[in-house]
Order: sequence, then C-alpha cells, then structure tokens
Amino acid sequence: MTSGLEGIKVVETRISEVDGAHGRLIVRGYPIEELTGAIPFERMVALLWEAEPHLGEGRVRAWEQLQGLLQALPPLPVCATVRLGLSALQGDRDTIVGAVAVLVAAACRRGRPLIAPDASRSHAADLLRMMHGETAAAEALDAYLVTVAEHGMNASTFAARIIASTGAGLAGASVGALAALEGPLHGGAPGPVLDMLDAIGDPSRAAAWIEQALRDGHRLMGFGHRIYRVRDPRADVLRAALGRLKQNQPSARLALADAVEAAALEALARHKPGRPLQTNVEFATALLLEALAIPRDAFTGIFACARVAGWIAHAQEQAASGRLMRPDAEYVGPRTAPAGRP
Ligand code: ACO
Repeated sequence: MTSGLEGIKVVETRISEVDGAHGRLIVRGYPIEELTGAIPFERMVALLWEAEPHLGEGRVRAWEQLQGLLQALPPLPVCATVRLGLSALQGDRDTIVGAVAVLVAAACRRGRPLIAPDASRSHAADLLRMMHGETAAAEALDAYLVTVAEHGMNASTFAARIIASTGAGLAGASVGALAALEGPLHGGAPGPVLDMLDAIGDPSRAAAWIEQALRDGHRLMGFGHRIYRVRDPRADVLRAALGRLKQNQPSARLALADAVEAAALEALARHKPGRPLQTNVEFATALLLEALAIPRDAFTGIFACARVAGWIAHAQEQAASGRLMRPDAEYVGPRTAPAGRP
C-alpha cells in the first residue's frame, strides 16, 4: 500500500486524460496543444461543462455579493481572500468562477480602489483589468487559463470530488480544492520558482546553486510530477505562449531560466537516476505570469481562476454518480489496550 495513492484509479471520468508515459493531456477528446492559443477560456469552460458558461454575468453577480466584504477586509494573502469570499458566496457555477477572478483581482489591489467587473469583456481581459486597470496581453493570460483549467485527478480536483460526493455544494467543493491547491507540492510552486531564479541571479551560477540545493536535500520547484515521466506537455504550450508574448525577443530573464532548466535537468538525472524528473507546468507558469506583471504571491490564485472550472466539472460528474466517496484504511495500530489509563 502506498501513502500517495499512486497508480490507483479512484473514478471513471469523461472529462480528461493525463497520459504520463507519453506526455499527453486530452480534454474531452482534444489534445491540449489544439486548445491553448486556439480557443478562449470561455470555450474551454464550455468544453468542460458541456454547456455554455456566462462568466461575465457571474463576475458581476459575485461582485454585487462580495464588494461589501472586500471593502471591509484587512489585507490578507490572496488565496485566503478567495477562500473567505467563496465561503460567503451564494450562487451558481458561473458566479463561483466569476467570484474567484473578482477575489484574486481585489486581493491584488492592496489598498488601491477596487475595480468592478465588466461583463462585456473576456474573462482573461477582465481579470487583468480588475487587477491592473488595463487589459494588455490578455491573449497570453487566456492561453494560460486554458492550459491549466483541467488536469485529471490532481490533488485539488480529488478534494473537490470527495467534498461533492457528500452532497455539499459547488462553493464548498471549490473552497476545499483551493486549500489543496495552495500547497507547495501542487499549485504553490511557481512563486518559489522565481525565488530560485532570483537567488541564482546569473546563468554562470546555475549549475553550482542547483548542485548545492540538491545536496542540501531541497526539491527544485518546477520539476518533477507524479504522473508525467516525460516532459509536461503544458510546459511547452506555455513556453510557446510566452514566446508570442515576448515576440520571441531574447531576454536576460529567459536566458537565466533556460540555463537553470538545463542545469536542473542534468543534476536531477544524476541525483535521481531511477526517477525521470522533468520540467513541469509551474516552471513556465512562473515566467509567463511574471511577464504579465502579476505579483508572485498571486500566482496560485491565478491558477485557481482557471482550475475552478475543472473542479466544478468534476464535482458535477461526481455528484451525478450519487455515490459517497468513503474509502477504507488498513489499521496497523495495537489491537490490545496498552497497560494504564487511556
Ligand atoms: N527536486 C528534487 N528532487 C525531487 C523533485 C524535485 N523537484 N521531485 C521529486 N524528487 C525526488 C524525491 O525527493 C524522491 O527522491 P527519493 O526517492 O530519494 O526520496 C524522488 O524524486 C521521487 O519523488 P516522489 O516524491 O516520489 O515524486 P512524486 O511523484 O511523489 O512528487 C512532486 C511529485 C510532488 C510534484 C515532486 O516532483 C515535487 O515536489 N516537485 C517540486 C514541486 C513542484 O514543482 N510542484 C508542482 C507540481 S505540478 C502541479 O501540481 C500543477
């Protein structure tokens, strides 16, 4: 028995397949390479939900419910703001997806006046506008949202399905899923990827820094994956989106990132020869979101803006099955009472 449930298929799903051996992600039959950059987030949500979303109206409804709370809140970490707001929210799935965007953007305003949503804009453009007051580079954010909206039975989606199986609502499933997403082994990695790049500072220092980090027993953020044994396909589509954003202009940051990635892959292959550890989606995510001037402590919140659509698709699929998820545990403790009072 493994404590990480690896290799155990816990549900049947029609939503997506993550093929770790071949590095493929299929969403409702489409490879991710055919979706990123080709469709907007709204179409991705329609694919996931098999129904047309109304995200603009959802953002406005969420704003109407939450703006009083947001104005009264002390400054909190971005994901804490989202959890708090979702816990107070009442509404349908469009309102929940809208609320995550409204809450992330509001948390990023940090004392500056909040910006109300505009239902006529795309989700990506309005999210940027509510954060920064402008919508520049919305295509790149749209590509990111499409890329990470759905990814099989990852930890946060599993959490959402467990909560939905109890009959709890979609907002509760999303709050629980977000708490799972926040951990550094899941959606909390991209901020630390940038911290690592900053600490290394120059391509010439990459190999020595990485070597020391591995010798000290640290995990390199942005590398490794439970399912992928080859390169995460999302890393490539996001690097392509980043290339389009930067118009393929050389930059010192990208040169540093390339040197760090090469040094990390070389060192991981040497340190963990039995374990193929490749670049995961979070490495490219960090570079793309940084290029969009999104603060690094909001990266996990931006991830949630996309993944909430996948959580909801899975929560609904689970709820439709009508079956409570209640696995068993192998008890390995004592079967006779130890001496003395309990
Ligand atoms: N850096 C250094 N060593 C690593 C890394 C890494 N990034 N990833 C795995 N390893 C090592 C482990 O320490 C372990 O070594 P050991 O056998 O000597 O103890 C071996 O490789 C196997 O590791 P596992 O923990 O079994 O790998 P698992 O598949 O469970 O972990 C995980 C996957 C959690 C993503 C891991 O690779 C990791 O911690 N990566 C860094 C954090 C990160 O980038 N997270 C984002 C993941 S993508 C996402 O969730 C959206």
